[in-house]
Amino acid sequence: MAPHPGQLKPAVHVEKLVRRFAAKTILDGVDLDIGEGEFVALLGKSGSGKSTFLRALAGLDHEVEGTGALETPERLSVVFQDARLLPWRTTIQNVTLGLPGGAGQEAGRKALAEVGLEGRETAWPNQLSGGEQQRVALARSLVREPALLLADEPFGALDALTRLKMHDLLRELCARHRPAVLLVTHDVDEAISLADRILVLDEGRFVEDLHIDLPAPRDHGDRRFAQIRTQLLGRLGVNVPGRRAA
Ligand SMILES: Nc1ncnc2c1ncn2[C@@H]1O[C@H](COP(=O)(O)OP(=O)(O)O)[C@@H](O)[C@H]1O
Ligand SMILES: [Mg+2]
Repeated sequence: MAPHPGQLKPAVHVEKLVRRFAAKTILDGVDLDIGEGEFVALLGKSGSGKSTFLRALAGLDHEVEGTGALETPERLSVVFQDARLLPWRTTIQNVTLGLPGGAGQEAGRKALAEVGLEGRETAWPNQLSGGEQQRVALARSLVREPALLLADEPFGALDALTRLKMHDLLRELCARHRPAVLLVTHDVDEAISLADRILVLDEGRFVEDLHIDLPAPRDHGDRRFAQIRTQLLGRLGVNVPGRRAA
């Protein structure tokens, strides 16, 4: 894939990545560089291999067959659709799990404050709403100051209003901490709202690699926003009524 103009030093480098399940090739020789601090959204139909790709970057796919080269930063964090909090640990314990004592406590408290959960340190996960649990998951990932944040449909289980609030929060956190981000989503508007760059995965390859230079905050009603949406939906095989598919 051709490098983008002004591309930053890569935080992620992927070359000729192949992943197969039995006879089925899911990733068919994928190349990708993600720059330091670059926010990339990955779109694709269900079953196109988005999670397979993210798991490869996370180093969570030892059982799968494949070849190719993969360079990722040591400090990386992963966020999934479900917050995956330990129910028998408090909020702060979930955030600081595995961090050293005193400094960890302080960092955990700060991270919780950053996601708007100041004062909820001793709450149990089942006392939190779905959105709050996902805030804890974000705090847990950021407290390690990752150079790469991998997120697999992190807001997929949340209601629409909560999702919009989480978009604002993620945007703020990323602007402050500047990790490289790979956000897997099937929500085209979420991708356009948040990302510097959008990839579409189809039949084992990236069929779109689009730089989004809309100014923030991005207005969903904006004409260019709508054009990009139509283009991406076309790539995803969705016809927008009243328009020709791309
Ligand atoms: N552990 C597995 N064993 C066999 N097939 C799998 C496994 N995980 C995923 N697949 C298959 O690989 C394809 C891609 O899956 P996935 O990466 O989860 O897609 P997406 O996240 O885009 O929905 C799907 O056809 C899925 O059924
Ligand atoms: Mg998936």
